[in-house]
Amino acid sequence: MSDKSKTYFIRTFGCQQNLADSERIAGMLEEKGYKKAKSLDDADYIIINTCMVREQAEDRIYGLVRNIRLKRKNKQPKIVISGCLPGAAEREPSREFAKKIKIRLSGCELLLNEKIGLKCPAVRGNKRHALVPISNGCNNFCSYCIVPYSRGREISRPFKDIIEEVKKLAKEGYEEITLLGQNVNSYRADIVNSKLYKLPDGRRIKPVLVKHLGKTRIPTLFPYLLDAICQISGIKKVNFLSSNPWDFSDELIEVIAKNEKINRHIHLPVQSGDDKILFKMNRHYSSKEYLDLVKKIKKRIPQASFGTDIIVGFPGETEKAFKNTVKLCQKVGFEVAYIGKYSPRPGTASKQNFPDDVSSEEKNRRFHILDNQINKKKQNLRIIRQ
Ligand code: SAH
Ligand code: SF4
Ligand code: F3S
Repeated sequence: MSDKSKTYFIRTFGCQQNLADSERIAGMLEEKGYKKAKSLDDADYIIINTCMVREQAEDRIYGLVRNIRLKRKNKQPKIVISGCLPGAAEREPSREFAKKIKIRLSGCELLLNEKIGLKCPAVRGNKRHALVPISNGCNNFCSYCIVPYSRGREISRPFKDIIEEVKKLAKEGYEEITLLGQNVNSYRADIVNSKLYKLPDGRRIKPVLVKHLGKTRIPTLFPYLLDAICQISGIKKVNFLSSNPWDFSDELIEVIAKNEKINRHIHLPVQSGDDKILFKMNRHYSSKEYLDLVKKIKKRIPQASFGTDIIVGFPGETEKAFKNTVKLCQKVGFEVAYIGKYSPRPGTASKQNFPDDVSSEEKNRRFHILDNQINKKKQNLRIIRQ
């Protein structure tokens, strides 16, 4: 980023991790003397922070670039593409995607996530609630998911840096914290081993062992980190996202139960309620194991409620398999569900190995059934109660 232009505007797509990254990109630019422009139309420097999770999300990027080019015909701004697109272009093994964007995004600069880093100061949108990344990337390779390419392998942020950032936020008046990672449950698995670990407060602790690829062998510090965040005075509410069902440990349940500050609404992405589909998705749990986990959490934390992510129309999802998802959702009684229609993504195992054999009409139908059952039903109840 060596352009002499001095105003910037960031357009963010995708998940909360992208929102947090945008705050750090803003920090990086403001340190270099850039000022925030009023809108996309005024900026000399436009950063599009991208999501690649479904084809539709990807298409929005090309649409926006095309619009900017048309609207700003007389004085073209510099366009920088950050987030999950550059990572996918760099790492996606089929190279299909790298070739495609050379044509579709010619003239745009690509900015990889790792160039921003987790240390950059953030310019935050909210003055009370702060997003705090604790790791970047993912090692799980769920068969449909591009994130292990788009964000690369999981890299955890040092424990001490996170604690220091949250203490500073508390001093500035922040009261609510959301800890972010693609899978917070495996926080620090890339660094620690199962031996004793010295926390910043001097305590020597044994990392918690959690499951990875079906085997209990991954040491994590997440329960300790969450507990340490709750001890910081001034912080009143703590959330975390995303937390996978296969490595949601008993120690994590205990930490939530003991700390009233931790949100009792737990986001626990299930993706499917059918065991054959879960196996093809490479999720490493069965529907029974998921339901047992929900039961265990509810028993220890009776006020717990749940949210989830679901994919409809995964390859080979029969009507019977879909009904198993409907049944699981009924049993859990989710408060909210982010439902996605399966979209084959470049370089993923499911795109390479399974035909996208559920029609888009059928994906739509399944989407609406679950949306009505989980999201709309809750809205209707709210309206009746008001
Ligand atoms: N790390 C998080 C999810 C990150 S991606 C987790 O494991 O839960 C966010 C959501 O997008 C996923 O939970 C999944 O439901 C959806 N998703 C990912 N890849 C997809 C694809 N190829 N098609 C449709 N939905 C997808
Ligand atoms: Fe990682 Fe799976 Fe989540 Fe994708 S869906 S980010 S592969 S854990
Ligand atoms: Fe999208 Fe990247 Fe988040 S692909 S969902 S912005 S991790």
